[in-house]
Amino acid sequence: MPNEPAPSPARIPRHLAVIMDGNGRWAERRRRPRIIGHRAGARTVNICIDFCIARGIQALTLFAFSSENWGRPEDEVGGLMKLFLNALEREVEELDRRGVRVRFIGERDRFSDKIRERMAAAEAQTRTNATLHLTIAASYGGRWDIVQAARSLAADVAAGRLAPEAIDEALFASRVSLADLPPPDLFIRTGGDTRISNFLLWQLAYTELWFTEALWPELDETMLQRALDEFGGRERRFGLTGAQIAAQPKETVE
Ligand code: IPE
Ligand code: IPE
Ligand code: MG
Repeated sequence: MPNEPAPSPARIPRHLAVIMDGNGRWAERRRRPRIIGHRAGARTVNICIDFCIARGIQALTLFAFSSENWGRPEDEVGGLMKLFLNALEREVEELDRRGVRVRFIGERDRFSDKIRERMAAAEAQTRTNATLHLTIAASYGGRWDIVQAARSLAADVAAGRLAPEAIDEALFASRVSLADLPPPDLFIRTGGDTRISNFLLWQLAYTELWFTEALWPELDETMLQRALDEFGGRERRFGLTGAQIAAQPKETVE
């Protein structure tokens, strides 16, 4: 649109983390089985990936299935596993073509052999891609993540490879999931609930949180852009004063 003023160069998050919530309610409102909502939600994943690529967001982490979601009714868990396997079979080629690196975080042992094989194959096929680092958190819990990091450090201490005094925040951070990415700058949760639900507990320490009433299958580019615009207007202080932040060159802030 030629008459519109050019948008100001907005601050773009390097890493976006998303809780994709509200699929079940989306289906229930239509008097359809919950799995229909999960299917509709799978389409929104592609909208979100396209949006990140278009805006130059480098990393996207999506919460697809929590440690606690295993406790849902058997037919819903079974339906989700089928959907997950289908997505792994159908989407990876296209993601690879678009330069997306796909990885998974979470407790993999709980998935079937077939799903685990597909996950490993997707990771291997896309490992050299760098347009977007897509991480799917599946069978993931923030508490599990912290526990597995503690366990790996404890194993090093027990083996005499590490002194307990050498454990600091940086070393701990290197053992939790997503260690090779900057921490999420922006967190989005759809579905109207304002909680973290055991997502990235360590990694979200200074992430900007954004919530919307929209259900995951309803999320579109306009809403994603609104989240980005609000993010751009926030002052991230990281415990400092506003005056200190204003005096700092932007790049030196986390
Ligand atoms: C999120 O949608 C997807 C998963 C947790 C697998 P929900 O299934 O939680 O949908 P609501 O919150 O019940 O509407
Ligand atoms: C969080 O949603 C997990 C995922 C979106 C994968 P839930 O629906 O499981 O969260 P609660 O139960 O409302 O906290
Ligand atoms: Mg939910």
